[in-house]
Amino acid sequence: MAKASLNITAATVDPGLLDLPWELPLDLWPDETIAALPKGISRHLVRFVHLSGYIVAIKETSAELAKSEYDMLRTLQRLDIPCVDPVAVITNRTDAAGEPLLPVLVTRHLKFSLPYRALYSQSLRPDTAKRLVDALAVLLVRLHIIGFFWGDVSLSNTLFRRDAGAFAAYLVDAETGQLFDGGLSNGQRENDLEIARVNIAGELLDLEAGGRLQEDTDPVDLSSGIVAKYRELWSELTGTEEFDASERWRINERVERLNELGFDIEELAIRSDATGAHLRIQPKVVDAGHHQRRLLRLTGLDAQENQARRLLNDLDAYVATNRVEGDGDEEELAHEWTVRVFEPVIRSIPRDLRGKLEPAEVFHQLLDHRWYLSEQEKRDVPLAEALTSYIDTILRHRRDEAAMFNPPTGTITMPLDVIDDEEDWRKLV
Ligand SMILES: Nc1ncnc2c1ncn2[C@@H]1O[C@H](COP(=O)(O)OP(=O)(O)O)[C@@H](O)[C@H]1O
Ligand SMILES: [Mg+2]
Repeated sequence: MAKASLNITAATVDPGLLDLPWELPLDLWPDETIAALPKGISRHLVRFVHLSGYIVAIKETSAELAKSEYDMLRTLQRLDIPCVDPVAVITNRTDAAGEPLLPVLVTRHLKFSLPYRALYSQSLRPDTAKRLVDALAVLLVRLHIIGFFWGDVSLSNTLFRRDAGAFAAYLVDAETGQLFDGGLSNGQRENDLEIARVNIAGELLDLEAGGRLQEDTDPVDLSSGIVAKYRELWSELTGTEEFDASERWRINERVERLNELGFDIEELAIRSDATGAHLRIQPKVVDAGHHQRRLLRLTGLDAQENQARRLLNDLDAYVATNRVEGDGDEEELAHEWTVRVFEPVIRSIPRDLRGKLEPAEVFHQLLDHRWYLSEQEKRDVPLAEALTSYIDTILRHRRDEAAMFNPPTGTITMPLDVIDDEEDWRKLV
Protein backbone atom coordinates (compact mmCIF):
# COMPACT_ATOMS: atom_id res chain seq x y z
CA MET A 1 0.00 0.00 0.00
CA ALA A 2 1.36 3.37 -0.99
CA LYS A 3 -0.19 5.07 2.03
CA ALA A 4 1.47 2.82 4.55
CA SER A 5 4.90 4.15 3.71
CA LEU A 6 3.97 7.81 4.24
CA ASN A 7 6.26 9.64 6.55
CA ILE A 8 4.53 12.32 8.61
CA THR A 9 6.23 14.84 10.87
CA ALA A 10 3.83 16.79 13.05
CA ALA A 11 3.48 17.96 16.62
CA THR A 12 0.03 16.42 16.82
CA VAL A 13 -1.35 14.40 13.95
CA ASP A 14 -4.90 15.00 12.92
CA PRO A 15 -6.17 11.55 11.85
CA GLY A 16 -8.08 13.28 9.04
CA LEU A 17 -4.72 13.98 7.45
CA LEU A 18 -4.31 10.28 6.73
CA ASP A 19 -7.51 10.16 4.69
CA LEU A 20 -6.32 12.66 2.09
CA PRO A 21 -5.39 11.27 -1.33
CA TRP A 22 -1.63 11.44 -0.86
CA GLU A 23 -1.13 8.89 -3.64
CA LEU A 24 -2.21 11.52 -6.18
CA PRO A 25 -0.14 14.51 -7.30
CA LEU A 26 -1.66 17.62 -5.68
CA ASP A 27 -2.85 19.05 -9.00
CA LEU A 28 -5.00 15.96 -9.52
CA TRP A 29 -6.75 15.98 -6.16
CA PRO A 30 -10.51 15.65 -6.56
CA ASP A 31 -12.59 18.83 -6.43
CA GLU A 32 -14.46 17.83 -3.30
CA THR A 33 -11.26 17.90 -1.24
CA ILE A 34 -10.26 21.33 -2.52
CA ALA A 35 -11.37 24.62 -0.96
CA ALA A 36 -11.46 27.35 -3.56
CA LEU A 37 -9.95 30.29 -1.70
CA PRO A 38 -7.93 33.16 -3.10
CA LYS A 39 -4.18 32.96 -2.76
CA GLY A 40 -1.06 34.84 -3.64
CA ILE A 41 1.39 34.11 -6.41
CA SER A 42 3.79 31.28 -5.66
CA ARG A 43 6.66 29.27 -7.02
CA HIS A 44 5.31 25.96 -5.82
CA LEU A 45 1.91 24.46 -6.24
CA VAL A 46 -0.19 25.43 -3.24
CA ARG A 47 -3.78 24.27 -2.80
CA PHE A 48 -6.29 24.63 0.01
CA VAL A 49 -7.84 21.44 1.30
CA HIS A 50 -10.72 20.64 3.64
CA LEU A 51 -9.73 18.76 6.73
CA SER A 52 -11.93 17.84 9.67
CA GLY A 53 -13.68 21.15 10.23
CA TYR A 54 -10.91 23.42 9.05
CA ILE A 55 -8.85 24.19 6.02
CA VAL A 56 -5.17 23.61 5.40
CA ALA A 57 -2.80 24.90 2.76
CA ILE A 58 -0.72 22.18 1.12
CA LYS A 59 2.48 23.07 -0.68
CA GLU A 60 4.39 20.58 -2.83
CA THR A 61 8.09 21.20 -2.43
CA SER A 62 11.30 19.35 -1.61
CA ALA A 63 11.79 17.41 1.61
CA GLU A 64 14.57 19.72 2.79
CA LEU A 65 12.59 22.91 2.14
CA ALA A 66 9.40 21.52 3.67
CA LYS A 67 11.23 20.45 6.82
CA SER A 68 13.19 23.65 7.26
CA GLU A 69 10.14 25.83 6.63
CA TYR A 70 8.14 23.74 9.09
CA ASP A 71 10.83 24.17 11.75
CA MET A 72 11.17 27.87 11.04
CA LEU A 73 7.42 28.48 11.32
CA ARG A 74 7.35 26.64 14.64
CA THR A 75 10.20 28.78 15.93
CA LEU A 76 8.49 31.97 14.76
CA GLN A 77 5.27 30.89 16.46
CA ARG A 78 7.18 30.36 19.68
CA LEU A 79 8.63 33.84 19.34
CA ASP A 80 5.12 35.28 18.99
CA ILE A 81 5.57 36.41 15.42
CA PRO A 82 2.31 36.55 13.48
CA CYS A 83 2.68 33.76 10.91
CA VAL A 84 0.82 30.74 9.60
CA ASP A 85 0.61 27.68 11.79
CA PRO A 86 2.64 24.67 10.57
CA VAL A 87 0.70 21.40 10.72
CA ALA A 88 2.90 18.71 9.17
CA VAL A 89 5.56 17.69 6.72
CA ILE A 90 4.76 14.63 4.65
CA THR A 91 7.42 12.77 2.72
CA ASN A 92 7.73 9.35 1.09
CA ARG A 93 4.67 9.84 -1.05
CA THR A 94 4.27 7.42 -3.93
CA ASP A 95 1.57 7.00 -6.52
CA ALA A 96 -0.34 3.79 -7.30
CA ALA A 97 2.48 2.61 -9.53
CA GLY A 98 5.01 3.20 -6.77
CA GLU A 99 6.51 6.30 -8.45
CA PRO A 100 7.68 8.94 -5.97
CA LEU A 101 5.59 12.11 -5.47
CA LEU A 102 6.73 15.45 -4.09
CA PRO A 103 6.91 15.97 -0.32
CA VAL A 104 4.52 18.57 1.11
CA LEU A 105 4.34 21.18 3.81
CA VAL A 106 0.93 21.49 5.43
CA THR A 107 -0.03 24.71 7.20
CA ARG A 108 -3.31 25.76 8.68
CA HIS A 109 -5.30 28.22 6.62
CA LEU A 110 -5.33 31.47 8.53
CA LYS A 111 -8.93 32.39 9.21
CA PHE A 112 -10.14 35.73 7.96
CA SER A 113 -6.86 36.31 6.24
CA LEU A 114 -6.80 38.03 2.91
CA PRO A 115 -4.12 37.82 0.26
CA TYR A 116 -3.52 41.31 -1.12
CA ARG A 117 -5.05 40.28 -4.42
CA ALA A 118 -8.38 39.70 -2.70
CA LEU A 119 -8.54 43.15 -1.16
CA TYR A 120 -10.36 44.83 -3.96
CA SER A 121 -13.33 44.02 -6.11
CA GLN A 122 -12.42 46.10 -9.17
CA SER A 123 -9.10 47.69 -8.44
CA LEU A 124 -6.84 48.29 -5.46
CA ARG A 125 -7.20 51.76 -3.95
CA PRO A 126 -4.06 53.73 -3.11
CA ASP A 127 -5.03 54.13 0.54
CA THR A 128 -5.60 50.39 0.87
CA ALA A 129 -2.24 49.72 -0.78
CA LYS A 130 -0.61 52.13 1.65
CA ARG A 131 -2.16 50.38 4.62
CA LEU A 132 -0.92 47.03 3.33
CA VAL A 133 2.59 48.39 2.93
CA ASP A 134 2.47 49.91 6.42
CA ALA A 135 1.35 46.62 7.93
CA LEU A 136 4.15 44.80 6.14
CA ALA A 137 6.67 47.33 7.48
CA VAL A 138 5.53 46.59 11.04
CA LEU A 139 5.91 42.86 10.44
CA LEU A 140 9.37 43.33 8.95
CA VAL A 141 10.53 45.40 11.92
CA ARG A 142 9.25 42.73 14.30
CA LEU A 143 11.05 40.02 12.35
CA HIS A 144 14.30 41.98 12.29
CA ILE A 145 14.12 42.63 16.01
CA ILE A 146 14.20 38.89 16.70
CA GLY A 147 17.06 38.44 14.20
CA PHE A 148 15.07 36.98 11.30
CA PHE A 149 16.30 37.70 7.81
CA TRP A 150 13.39 37.04 5.49
CA GLY A 151 15.06 37.10 2.10
CA ASP A 152 11.79 37.17 0.17
CA VAL A 153 9.69 39.98 1.59
CA SER A 154 6.67 40.58 -0.61
CA LEU A 155 2.93 41.14 -0.53
CA SER A 156 2.46 37.61 -1.89
CA ASN A 157 4.34 36.11 1.02
CA THR A 158 2.18 37.95 3.51
CA LEU A 159 -1.41 37.53 4.60
CA PHE A 160 -3.49 40.40 5.88
CA ARG A 161 -6.21 40.55 8.46
CA ARG A 162 -8.46 43.49 9.07
CA ASP A 163 -7.46 45.40 12.13
CA ALA A 164 -9.80 48.26 13.00
CA GLY A 165 -9.38 50.20 9.78
CA ALA A 166 -5.78 49.09 9.31
CA PHE A 167 -4.31 45.68 8.55
CA ALA A 168 -2.25 43.22 10.54
CA ALA A 169 0.33 41.37 8.45
CA TYR A 170 1.18 37.68 8.88
CA LEU A 171 4.18 35.93 7.41
CA VAL A 172 3.15 33.05 5.18
CA ASP A 173 6.30 32.00 3.33
CA ALA A 174 9.33 31.37 5.56
CA GLU A 175 11.20 29.24 3.04
CA THR A 176 14.02 31.71 2.47
CA GLY A 177 14.20 32.90 6.08
CA GLN A 178 17.14 32.57 8.43
CA LEU A 179 17.35 33.28 12.12
CA PHE A 180 20.53 34.87 13.45
CA ASP A 181 21.23 34.47 17.15
CA GLY A 182 23.26 37.62 17.42
CA GLY A 183 20.67 39.70 15.59
CA LEU A 184 20.95 41.20 12.12
CA SER A 185 23.61 43.56 10.84
CA ASN A 186 22.51 46.85 9.32
CA GLY A 187 23.56 45.45 5.96
CA GLN A 188 21.24 42.48 6.32
CA ARG A 189 18.36 44.69 7.31
CA GLU A 190 18.97 47.03 4.40
CA ASN A 191 19.15 44.05 2.10
CA ASP A 192 15.73 42.77 3.23
CA LEU A 193 14.30 46.25 2.95
CA GLU A 194 15.53 46.59 -0.62
CA ILE A 195 14.06 43.18 -1.47
CA ALA A 196 10.78 44.36 0.01
CA ARG A 197 10.77 47.57 -1.98
CA VAL A 198 11.59 45.89 -5.29
CA ASN A 199 9.10 43.05 -4.79
CA ILE A 200 6.26 45.37 -3.77
CA ALA A 201 6.94 47.66 -6.73
CA GLY A 202 6.82 44.60 -9.00
CA GLU A 203 3.60 43.34 -7.49
CA LEU A 204 1.90 46.72 -7.78
CA LEU A 205 3.17 47.29 -11.33
CA ASP A 206 1.75 43.91 -12.14
CA LEU A 207 -1.65 44.93 -10.80
CA GLU A 208 -1.37 48.16 -12.77
CA ALA A 209 -0.62 46.30 -15.98
CA GLY A 210 -3.74 44.24 -15.44
CA GLY A 211 -5.84 47.35 -14.81
CA ARG A 212 -6.19 46.32 -11.18
CA LEU A 213 -4.71 49.42 -9.62
CA GLN A 214 -6.72 52.59 -9.27
CA GLU A 215 -5.57 55.17 -11.78
CA ASP A 216 -4.00 57.84 -9.62
CA THR A 217 -1.77 55.30 -7.87
CA ASP A 218 1.99 55.31 -8.24
CA PRO A 219 3.42 51.81 -7.64
CA VAL A 220 6.99 53.05 -7.24
CA ASP A 221 5.99 55.72 -4.77
CA LEU A 222 3.92 53.29 -2.74
CA SER A 223 6.67 50.70 -2.64
CA SER A 224 9.15 53.26 -1.32
CA GLY A 225 6.67 53.83 1.47
CA ILE A 226 7.84 50.65 3.14
CA VAL A 227 11.34 52.04 3.52
CA ALA A 228 10.16 55.23 5.20
CA LYS A 229 7.70 53.47 7.48
CA TYR A 230 10.26 50.83 8.42
CA ARG A 231 12.96 53.36 9.29
CA GLU A 232 10.62 55.46 11.36
CA LEU A 233 9.47 52.48 13.38
CA TRP A 234 12.94 50.98 13.69
CA SER A 235 14.44 54.12 15.15
CA GLU A 236 11.52 54.64 17.50
CA LEU A 237 11.85 51.06 18.75
CA THR A 238 15.60 50.72 18.94
CA GLY A 239 17.16 54.19 18.81
CA THR A 240 19.16 55.78 21.62
CA GLU A 241 18.13 59.09 23.10
CA GLU A 242 20.34 61.43 25.09
CA PHE A 243 19.24 64.17 27.39
CA ASP A 244 20.04 66.15 30.48
CA ALA A 245 19.54 64.38 33.81
CA SER A 246 17.04 67.07 34.72
CA GLU A 247 14.79 65.85 31.91
CA ARG A 248 14.08 62.50 33.47
CA TRP A 249 10.46 62.65 32.35
CA ARG A 250 11.76 61.85 28.90
CA ILE A 251 12.19 58.24 30.00
CA ASN A 252 8.48 57.95 30.66
CA GLU A 253 7.70 59.78 27.50
CA ARG A 254 9.66 57.24 25.48
CA VAL A 255 7.85 54.36 27.15
CA GLU A 256 4.49 55.95 26.47
CA ARG A 257 5.35 56.64 22.85
CA LEU A 258 6.25 53.00 22.38
CA ASN A 259 3.06 51.86 24.12
CA GLU A 260 1.09 54.07 21.79
CA LEU A 261 2.77 52.35 18.86
CA GLY A 262 1.67 49.04 20.34
CA PHE A 263 4.92 47.93 21.96
CA ASP A 264 6.02 47.28 25.51
CA ILE A 265 9.55 47.78 26.72
CA GLU A 266 10.74 44.66 28.46
CA GLU A 267 14.14 46.09 29.14
CA LEU A 268 15.47 49.61 28.91
CA ALA A 269 19.16 50.45 29.17
CA ILE A 270 19.76 53.68 31.04
CA ARG A 271 23.28 55.02 31.28
CA SER A 272 24.54 58.18 32.88
CA ASP A 273 27.91 59.80 32.22
CA ALA A 274 30.61 60.19 34.89
CA THR A 275 29.17 63.45 36.21
CA GLY A 276 25.65 62.09 36.26
CA ALA A 277 24.45 65.15 34.38
CA HIS A 278 23.71 63.32 31.21
CA LEU A 279 21.45 60.33 30.52
CA ARG A 280 21.30 57.97 27.62
CA ILE A 281 18.46 55.53 27.10
CA GLN A 282 17.90 52.74 24.66
CA PRO A 283 15.15 50.12 24.59
CA LYS A 284 16.83 46.71 24.74
CA VAL A 285 13.92 44.34 24.46
CA VAL A 286 10.61 45.41 23.03
CA ASP A 287 7.54 43.30 22.73
CA ALA A 288 4.66 43.91 20.34
CA GLY A 289 1.06 43.65 21.47
CA HIS A 290 0.76 46.29 24.19
CA HIS A 291 -2.97 46.83 23.75
CA GLN A 292 -3.64 43.19 22.89
CA ARG A 293 -2.17 42.10 26.20
CA ARG A 294 -4.08 44.69 28.19
CA LEU A 295 -7.37 43.73 26.55
CA LEU A 296 -6.68 40.05 27.11
CA ARG A 297 -5.82 40.62 30.76
CA LEU A 298 -8.93 42.73 31.41
CA THR A 299 -11.52 40.89 29.36
CA GLY A 300 -10.12 37.59 28.14
CA LEU A 301 -10.73 38.78 24.58
CA ASP A 302 -8.06 38.18 22.00
CA ALA A 303 -7.97 40.75 19.19
CA GLN A 304 -5.55 42.38 16.81
CA GLU A 305 -3.54 45.30 18.14
CA ASN A 306 -5.61 48.13 16.65
CA GLN A 307 -8.87 46.40 17.39
CA ALA A 308 -7.71 46.02 20.98
CA ARG A 309 -6.82 49.71 21.12
CA ARG A 310 -10.29 50.57 19.88
CA LEU A 311 -12.11 48.23 22.25
CA LEU A 312 -10.03 49.52 25.14
CA ASN A 313 -11.11 53.09 24.37
CA ASP A 314 -14.70 52.04 24.77
CA LEU A 315 -13.91 49.97 27.82
CA ASP A 316 -11.98 52.82 29.47
CA ALA A 317 -14.86 55.20 28.84
CA TYR A 318 -17.21 52.66 30.40
CA VAL A 319 -14.98 52.26 33.43
CA ALA A 320 -14.66 56.03 33.83
CA THR A 321 -18.41 56.60 33.67
CA ASN A 322 -19.35 53.74 35.94
CA ARG A 323 -16.69 54.17 38.54
CA VAL A 324 -18.14 55.26 41.82
CA GLU A 325 -15.96 57.63 43.84
CA GLY A 326 -13.32 55.71 45.79
CA ASP A 327 -14.73 52.42 44.63
CA GLY A 328 -14.92 50.40 41.46
CA ASP A 329 -12.13 48.10 40.64
CA GLU A 330 -10.93 48.38 37.02
CA GLU A 331 -10.90 44.62 36.55
CA GLU A 332 -14.41 44.22 37.83
CA LEU A 333 -15.77 47.00 35.65
CA ALA A 334 -13.89 45.61 32.66
CA HIS A 335 -15.59 42.30 33.22
CA GLU A 336 -18.90 44.11 33.44
CA TRP A 337 -18.18 45.86 30.12
CA THR A 338 -17.43 42.52 28.49
CA VAL A 339 -20.64 40.94 29.71
CA ARG A 340 -22.95 43.94 29.36
CA VAL A 341 -21.61 45.73 26.33
CA PHE A 342 -19.37 43.60 24.14
CA GLU A 343 -20.94 40.16 24.36
CA PRO A 344 -24.55 41.26 23.81
CA VAL A 345 -23.45 43.05 20.63
CA ILE A 346 -21.76 39.95 19.28
CA ARG A 347 -24.70 37.77 20.29
CA SER A 348 -27.09 40.04 18.41
CA ILE A 349 -25.34 39.51 15.11
CA PRO A 350 -27.61 37.21 13.13
CA ARG A 351 -26.01 33.82 12.72
CA ASP A 352 -25.86 34.05 8.94
CA LEU A 353 -23.83 37.25 9.17
CA ARG A 354 -21.31 36.05 11.71
CA GLY A 355 -18.84 34.73 9.22
CA LYS A 356 -18.43 38.14 7.60
CA LEU A 357 -16.05 39.72 10.08
CA GLU A 358 -14.33 38.87 13.31
CA PRO A 359 -16.23 39.95 16.45
CA ALA A 360 -13.67 42.58 17.42
CA GLU A 361 -13.80 44.04 13.90
CA VAL A 362 -17.59 44.13 14.03
CA PHE A 363 -17.44 45.99 17.33
CA HIS A 364 -14.96 48.46 15.93
CA GLN A 365 -17.16 49.14 12.91
CA LEU A 366 -20.17 49.49 15.15
CA LEU A 367 -18.40 52.17 17.19
CA ASP A 368 -17.59 53.99 13.96
CA HIS A 369 -21.16 53.69 12.85
CA ARG A 370 -22.52 55.04 16.13
CA TRP A 371 -20.17 58.01 15.87
CA TYR A 372 -21.37 58.65 12.34
CA LEU A 373 -25.06 58.42 13.29
CA SER A 374 -24.56 60.68 16.29
CA GLU A 375 -22.85 63.27 14.11
CA GLN A 376 -25.60 63.09 11.57
CA GLU A 377 -28.47 63.28 14.02
CA LYS A 378 -26.72 65.63 16.45
CA ARG A 379 -27.55 63.46 19.46
CA ASP A 380 -25.99 60.58 21.39
CA VAL A 381 -27.25 57.50 19.60
CA PRO A 382 -27.39 54.55 22.04
CA LEU A 383 -25.34 51.51 21.13
CA ALA A 384 -28.38 49.23 20.73
CA GLU A 385 -29.95 51.61 18.22
CA ALA A 386 -26.71 51.97 16.32
CA LEU A 387 -26.39 48.20 16.25
CA THR A 388 -29.69 47.63 14.50
CA SER A 389 -28.82 50.25 11.95
CA TYR A 390 -25.30 48.85 11.51
CA ILE A 391 -26.55 45.31 10.90
CA ASP A 392 -29.19 46.41 8.41
CA THR A 393 -27.39 49.12 6.53
CA ILE A 394 -23.78 47.93 6.61
CA LEU A 395 -23.03 44.40 7.70
CA ARG A 396 -25.77 42.81 5.64
CA HIS A 397 -24.57 44.53 2.47
CA ARG A 398 -20.90 43.87 2.87
CA ARG A 399 -19.20 42.13 0.03
CA ASP A 400 -19.42 38.65 1.39
CA GLU A 401 -15.88 37.91 2.36
CA ALA A 402 -17.05 35.02 4.45
CA ALA A 403 -18.17 33.14 1.38
CA MET A 404 -14.82 33.69 -0.19
CA PHE A 405 -12.68 33.03 2.79
CA ASN A 406 -14.87 30.84 4.88
CA PRO A 407 -17.14 28.81 2.66
CA PRO A 408 -20.20 27.49 4.47
CA THR A 409 -18.97 24.02 5.28
CA GLY A 410 -20.49 23.91 8.72
CA THR A 411 -18.08 24.28 11.58
CA ILE A 412 -15.56 26.63 10.03
CA THR A 413 -17.73 29.70 9.98
CA MET A 414 -16.49 30.74 13.38
CA PRO A 415 -14.58 33.97 13.20
CA LEU A 416 -11.79 34.54 15.77
CA ASP A 417 -8.63 32.71 14.90
CA VAL A 418 -7.56 32.72 18.46
CA ILE A 419 -10.70 30.94 19.49
CA ASP A 420 -9.86 27.71 17.94
CA ASP A 421 -12.62 25.39 18.81
CA GLU A 422 -16.31 25.48 18.69
CA GLU A 423 -16.62 25.26 22.45
CA ASP A 424 -14.57 28.38 23.13
CA TRP A 425 -16.52 30.15 20.48
CA ARG A 426 -19.78 29.25 22.19
CA LYS A 427 -18.43 30.60 25.43
CA LEU A 428 -17.85 33.91 23.73
CA VAL A 429 -21.15 34.29 21.93
N1 LIG B 1 -1.61 28.73 5.75
C1 LIG B 1 -2.03 29.52 4.76
N2 LIG B 1 -3.15 30.27 4.92
C2 LIG B 1 -3.60 31.08 3.93
N3 LIG B 1 -3.01 31.19 2.74
C3 LIG B 1 -1.89 30.46 2.50
C4 LIG B 1 -1.34 29.60 3.50
N4 LIG B 1 -0.24 29.01 2.98
C5 LIG B 1 -0.11 29.49 1.73
N5 LIG B 1 -1.10 30.36 1.42
C6 LIG B 1 -1.30 31.07 0.15
O1 LIG B 1 -0.55 30.42 -0.85
C7 LIG B 1 0.35 31.31 -1.46
C8 LIG B 1 1.66 30.63 -1.76
O2 LIG B 1 2.28 30.13 -0.58
P1 LIG B 1 3.85 30.27 -0.38
O3 LIG B 1 4.21 29.61 0.91
O4 LIG B 1 4.24 31.68 -0.55
O5 LIG B 1 4.41 29.41 -1.59
P2 LIG B 1 5.80 29.58 -2.37
O6 LIG B 1 6.88 29.11 -1.43
O7 LIG B 1 5.66 28.69 -3.54
O8 LIG B 1 5.95 31.02 -2.74
C9 LIG B 1 0.51 32.47 -0.48
O9 LIG B 1 0.71 33.66 -1.17
C10 LIG B 1 -0.82 32.49 0.24
O10 LIG B 1 -1.74 33.31 -0.44
MG1 LIG C 1 5.79 32.59 -1.63
